[in-house]
Amino acid sequence: AGAQALDQRQRPLTDLRISVTDRCNFRCSYCMPKEVFDKDYPYLPHSALLSFEEITRLAGVFAQLGVRKIRLTGGEPLLRKNIEALIEQLAALRTPEGAPLELALTTNGSLLARKAAALKAAGLQRVTVSLDGLDDAVFRRMNDVDFPVAQVLAGIDAALAAGLGPVKVNMVVKRGTNEDQILPMARHFREHHGGQVVLRFIEYMDVGATNGWRMDEVMPSAEVVARIDQAFALRPLEAHTASETAQRWGYADGRGEVGVISSVTRAFCHDCSRARLSTEGQLYLCLFAHQGHDLKGLLRGGADDARLGAAIAAIWQGRDDHYSEMRARLEPDRASAGAPRRVEMSYIGG
Ligand code: GTP
Ligand code: 5AD
Ligand code: SF4
Ligand code: SF4
Repeated sequence: AGAQALDQRQRPLTDLRISVTDRCNFRCSYCMPKEVFDKDYPYLPHSALLSFEEITRLAGVFAQLGVRKIRLTGGEPLLRKNIEALIEQLAALRTPEGAPLELALTTNGSLLARKAAALKAAGLQRVTVSLDGLDDAVFRRMNDVDFPVAQVLAGIDAALAAGLGPVKVNMVVKRGTNEDQILPMARHFREHHGGQVVLRFIEYMDVGATNGWRMDEVMPSAEVVARIDQAFALRPLEAHTASETAQRWGYADGRGEVGVISSVTRAFCHDCSRARLSTEGQLYLCLFAHQGHDLKGLLRGGADDARLGAAIAAIWQGRDDHYSEMRARLEPDRASAGAPRRVEMSYIGG
């Protein structure tokens, strides 16, 4: 076990998000708009993907460097064939102190009812489910493939029943599109699922280059909190950890909590300890990066673990990324438009 690498801003590397596929069965307009991600879109061919063995080997090296938490993302990770086998391999990894890693997965929930039990049996600990509305018509419009909300709610129940809770539910708020769902969502998750669901509201972000982001479609978290507070009194809660993305708010009557993830109005780069491994083995140091660092080439070129570890540590030590803080200091629409072409979130992983 080497010393923990710190980046240029003294941030440790504790969190690895792994994208296992760049495909998804939804077409959320803020992520994979239909007009761009159509039948001709050049998704990665199978040969370009990291194999489960390659992912696990890299994850083991990251664990040696200080990573304690692994999150599988996509695209939609449950579309990757036999994902349970990867989870089993990752669950067998240990930190230098001999502890298992924290193992979570972010999903759109469409396949969760079918897969929750198998995921749990393979060693997955928790899931986060994306859900942008409770009203069936609004939800079908948001996912843009006419997917019914009832099936995602059944997925959440299945995850809880399988022991994958507490479940986090993420709602991206787009002003004028699904803001009328804020209160119904808050009410629903206060009153159902046995208080085992933590709902978080995410500010719509200018990630990728295809979603046509505009600042006036962002609903600042302060407004979200004010709206909920009017209906159900809220009080601030302490953060669990320094690098947590969400600010927590508890219901004053004790019936659970909500969170807000405010990348646009309250950047949290100062404690960002997250690295992202793309589906084809590129390491990205920021969600808004325009370029990755090729780990697959090293891996397939025969580098041993020590060499991989040294390469990753050197990349991390050079990291200075803090995009959201920069955007906050500039005029957001101009800052966003002026930035170099960013990679898509479906490719590098949410
Ligand atoms: P846990 O709370 O530990 O489950 O993980 P988390 O807080 O990272 O939750 P999750 O993976 O669900 O991330 C929630 C959302 O926050 C993501 O889908 C992104 O939209 C956003 N997010 C996560 N990490 C970052 C980050 O490093 N930068 C920015 N700008 N947004 C992020
Ligand atoms: N802004 C905010 N959140 C986004 N996500 C995807 N695209 C965006 C965006 N432009 C979130 C989804 C999901 C996770 C994978 O990333 O809602 O929770
Ligand atoms: Fe798919 Fe999630 Fe992107 Fe929606 S946000 S298109 S569910 S990857
Ligand atoms: Fe981390 Fe980049 Fe997000 Fe800032 S913008 S919190 S550096 S991923």
